[in-house]
Amino acid sequence: MKLVELPYEYDALEPWLSEQVLKWHHDTHHQGYVNGWNAAEEKLEGQRTEGDFSDTGSILRSFTHNYCGTVLHNRFWNNLSPNGGGKPEGQLLEKIEEDFGSFEAWKEEFKAAASAAGGWALLVYMPMTDELHNVVVDKHDQNAVWGAHPVLALDVWEHSYYHDYGPDRGKFIDNFFDYVDWEDVEQKFDEITSKF
Ligand SMILES: [Fe+2]
Repeated sequence: MKLVELPYEYDALEPWLSEQVLKWHHDTHHQGYVNGWNAAEEKLEGQRTEGDFSDTGSILRSFTHNYCGTVLHNRFWNNLSPNGGGKPEGQLLEKIEEDFGSFEAWKEEFKAAASAAGGWALLVYMPMTDELHNVVVDKHDQNAVWGAHPVLALDVWEHSYYHDYGPDRGKFIDNFFDYVDWEDVEQKFDEITSKF
């Protein structure tokens, strides 16, 4: 697996997210998760060949951490745009209004999730109940919801904002909404729901 390219330049999300932070975040942190995932797969392959499963638990834990980190960063980069902001339209907006009461209610709940998270705030689609739901994730996978598909992700790890905002995570979260690419989120929602 290779690191995905950013769909914009490193400075494209300024002033919300500085060029320096985006470069570190993508080239070092995200790359680290991709490398960790690949290394775990290689070790698993080696174990299977050798028939030695003495370290399986720690390797599988590393796989989950790094795979989930890769998946969520892929979503995060793509649901951002220098031309973002506003509100979703069409089926996604209807579904948000159906499941949360209003776009504003969804947004306030999502902001609260982002304030509380030790990793990520996610808007996910749950095929089993045909519902959108906000989720608070610690690290990349703790409190994950089985069978749910992220349509919008916000990274609130300290590497995401601390260099630009210090302890003022609230400002980072508030300004995030000006950079949400709702067209991308709508496409992801349509893509997922069309499979169920
Ligand atoms: Fe991150």
